[in-house]
Amino acid sequence: MGKEKIYILGIESSCDDTAASVLCNGKILSNVIASQSIHQDYGGVVPELASRAHQQNIIPVVDQCLKKAKVSKCDLSAIAFTRGPGLMGSLLVGTSFAKSLAYGLKIPLIDVNHMQAHILVHFIEKEGCEKPTFPFLAMTISGGHTQIVKVDNYFEMTVIGETIDDAVGEAFDKSGKALGLGYPAGPKIDKLGRLGNPTAFKFTKPRVKELDFSFSGLKTAVLYFLQKNTKENPNFIAENLNDICASIQHTIVEILLDKLKLAVKQTGINKIAIGGGVSANSAIREALKKSEQKQGWKTYIPETEFTTDNAAMVAIVGYLKYLKKDFTTQETTAKARLKIQ
Ligand code: KG4
Ligand code: ZN
Repeated sequence: MGKEKIYILGIESSCDDTAASVLCNGKILSNVIASQSIHQDYGGVVPELASRAHQQNIIPVVDQCLKKAKVSKCDLSAIAFTRGPGLMGSLLVGTSFAKSLAYGLKIPLIDVNHMQAHILVHFIEKEGCEKPTFPFLAMTISGGHTQIVKVDNYFEMTVIGETIDDAVGEAFDKSGKALGLGYPAGPKIDKLGRLGNPTAFKFTKPRVKELDFSFSGLKTAVLYFLQKNTKENPNFIAENLNDICASIQHTIVEILLDKLKLAVKQTGINKIAIGGGVSANSAIREALKKSEQKQGWKTYIPETEFTTDNAAMVAIVGYLKYLKKDFTTQETTAKARLKIQ
């Protein structure tokens, strides 16, 4: 008898991406994302607009996802959805949709923590892709979070450091906004920064205790730096854009790396996985790769499509929970704030 096939539909709607993915025994059959461009005009995600767009997108996205996977909804073993953390209006769309579909199909419903999903994305079955072994450290860096997490097992995770104010993605986005780069600015700073000198300008790094982070000071430092220099030379930004981007990025990479070094020292764990939108950043990826030689670390860097919000990461958590028969009920509710444990 062949191995039973477990098909999990994952649904992600925590912020501004409506996404669905089907996995068969942990392997991706389809992975569809509808990103919302509407927020670009506002310099950030507008929650009300995000939930409206999710409502418009959710049915076509799930439909396309099932078609691409060549799977009928009747073949699904369970539905996994992001319960939180995230924007309440956005989460409600995915949560209600997943609950209704699971109810209609009479199949199990599985709730997923978005931040756990960013970490467990490393366990998607892919040929030639090495999975982390436990215990390892995960650094989750996104527009809403900056955490270092000690991962002892799939569902045994402890946050050992986190930001006390802004997330690292906000440092990219707000600095980029001041540079006139629009939203989200992270990918643009990355692109321009590659052409600039990372040590052209110096920004002070925050002093924060132990493994915690702070990024609000860096954002203010960039603002003052730009104000002062544009007063002296109105063309300062245009003339130095690549160097400014490279220098901001360099500072951020140093802040992250310093904390990782401390985390490795404190825990004695030298296996590091990264996840979240900011882990798409080329300078961060390069610095981590180099650390394998320099620090003797083993690093796990997801493919770029699995760094930003996606539903394959939700579906893999769904699969791992399915194996444990860890299901939720129709009474479940979305949670804007949801701790990793
Ligand atoms: O994980 P994500 O898609 O959504 C949240 O859960 O926040 O992360 C979005 C964040 C944004 O702040 C965006 O600017 C940042 O990830 N980002 C990047 C890059 N790509 C996305 N930041 C720096 N470099 C990149 N290449
Ligand atoms: Zn995310």
